[in-house]
Amino acid sequence: MCGIVGYIGNRVASEVILKGLQRLEYRGYDSAGIAVINDDIKIVKVKGKVNMLVSLADDHNVSGHMGIGHTRWATHGEPNDVNAHPHTGATGKFALVHNGIIENYDVLRQDLEQKGHMFTGETDTEVLAHLIEEIHEMSDHDFFHSVQQALLQVEGTYGIAVIHKDNPDRIIVARKGSPLLIGVGENEHFIASDASPIIEYTKKVVYLEDGEMAVITSDGYEVSTLKDVLLTKEVHELAMSLEQIEKGGFPHFMLKEIFEQSDTIADCMRGRLMVHENRIQLGGLDGVVEKLANARRVIIAACGTSWHAGLVGEYLFEYLAHMPVEVEYASEFRYRQQLIDERDVMIVISQSGETADTLAALREAKKRGAMVLGICNVVGSTIARETDAGVYTHAGPEIGVASTKAFTAQVTILTMMAMLMGRETNVISDDYMRKLVKELRSVPAKIEEILKDTSDIEAIARLFTYAPNFLYLGRSYNFPVALEGALKLKEISYIHAEGYPAAEMKHGPIALIDEHMPVVVIAATDHTNDKMISNIEEVRARKGRLIAISSDGQSGVARHAEFNITIPEVHDCMTPLLTAVPLQLLSYYIAVNRKCDVDQPRNLAKSVTVE
Ligand code: G6P
Repeated sequence: MCGIVGYIGNRVASEVILKGLQRLEYRGYDSAGIAVINDDIKIVKVKGKVNMLVSLADDHNVSGHMGIGHTRWATHGEPNDVNAHPHTGATGKFALVHNGIIENYDVLRQDLEQKGHMFTGETDTEVLAHLIEEIHEMSDHDFFHSVQQALLQVEGTYGIAVIHKDNPDRIIVARKGSPLLIGVGENEHFIASDASPIIEYTKKVVYLEDGEMAVITSDGYEVSTLKDVLLTKEVHELAMSLEQIEKGGFPHFMLKEIFEQSDTIADCMRGRLMVHENRIQLGGLDGVVEKLANARRVIIAACGTSWHAGLVGEYLFEYLAHMPVEVEYASEFRYRQQLIDERDVMIVISQSGETADTLAALREAKKRGAMVLGICNVVGSTIARETDAGVYTHAGPEIGVASTKAFTAQVTILTMMAMLMGRETNVISDDYMRKLVKELRSVPAKIEEILKDTSDIEAIARLFTYAPNFLYLGRSYNFPVALEGALKLKEISYIHAEGYPAAEMKHGPIALIDEHMPVVVIAATDHTNDKMISNIEEVRARKGRLIAISSDGQSGVARHAEFNITIPEVHDCMTPLLTAVPLQLLSYYIAVNRKCDVDQPRNLAKSVTVE
């Protein structure tokens, strides 16, 4: 969702903030703005991307050594210059940036209107700016306590940063449901909604928790609860590097991240896949392995691509460990009749570790006594911190909005977890484990093999660049990959695409197939080979344009398909780690041909922190 950056120290604040907003732009990019204090508060904001803000800021004098900035993903009020953050009250003495949603903004707004406040836009955030101002003007509360009192009246979620003309030595921040961290420097401090904008200045960070506020000055910070209880916070050391969040010679982050996958999967397995000892070691699950293996059922909750990884996990846990698994959209789980209890285990999967619905599902499950495990990419994220135990994917920062390397890393973790469970439940013998370990170990090299020559995929992408629809079919482990392939194409190229279990095609989608319909068939699993060939024939009989993903050994598929993308052979249960890659590339090249903004597709946000 939206991104926040703030700075206070000796540098030129606007430089730090604008650069930071560019790094955060993957979170939201329909408008952006900055406010700095230099005698007075100076605000520049504009509809569009951060680059537009940068050139506009050049034309205005936004010098000063403290300020706040924001990149917006609209929830309330269309994206335009007025609704862009920062927002001010009537006097213009306070400026505020906000992530999240103020749910009772309408009631608050009416009340403020009765008191004479005039609003310029439609956002919930502007209401909060006026509310802070009203409290400050009408009471003897200082800056900090005016913000605090306003927040006590607010329902909903927020990560906020506020500045006040008469207190140019401090920024007030607060968090409830929207991530915010403080970067600790030498005589300078930073704030940001994730670490990417501050990594080049400092690696020391303090994570704010829900219900916490902080006063930030150039010399220090003081964190307290909304009820004025002072807190001592742990300072964490960031592990990511600046290089990891730059494009490294690739035209897009997405392509860079696709090409990183042999490394990220290897990183994900390092120290966990113990080849010589023929076992899996997941340190993050120490002490909970037995409980997981004995769970009445495992519920996997996630959103988007992470939900697709969860679906692959379902097949893996069932096949390798004979454990019952249900996979839920986190957003649906919350509103279902809650039948989860302490006999169950929930696994939440989230790249960002901040997705609001996934976090809410986690909290609901914990409230009902279930143990909750996490599979997260962002170290120190809210979900990672709130789960009882978990495993990091260690895929490094994922900047492209369409998730790629995080997906394969999540599936790698799920594969290792399922193998671990298979040993615990005695489903996997020593010999079989040896085979699985060897196969999993071979995956990074096989991905490298796929990435060595992408010319076939580029050629197919050229042919189908202007297709209005796509159908993706898969069976078993590759049914979720069909869903993921279709999602990738939709997300970045805006082509309508649907993923289906191959056999279900006969129950509807087959009516859509004619000579204009590209059908991508993911046929790489041996045990469904014959059935997939039948599906291929059904498509061909209706003149569909057939693109197959098959493995080296499946000559049958290659012979029947109009186009064939070959991947190296691997154990059936690990094929999603390979089949996902050509589908990511296909959607990438199509989107590039269509001149779409691959890394920042319209309307999408990398991290969805509103419900
Ligand atoms: C957004 C992103 C997707 C992601 C989903 C879940 O929709 O655009 O790429 O899969 O959120 O995010 P999470 O961070 O929880 O994996």
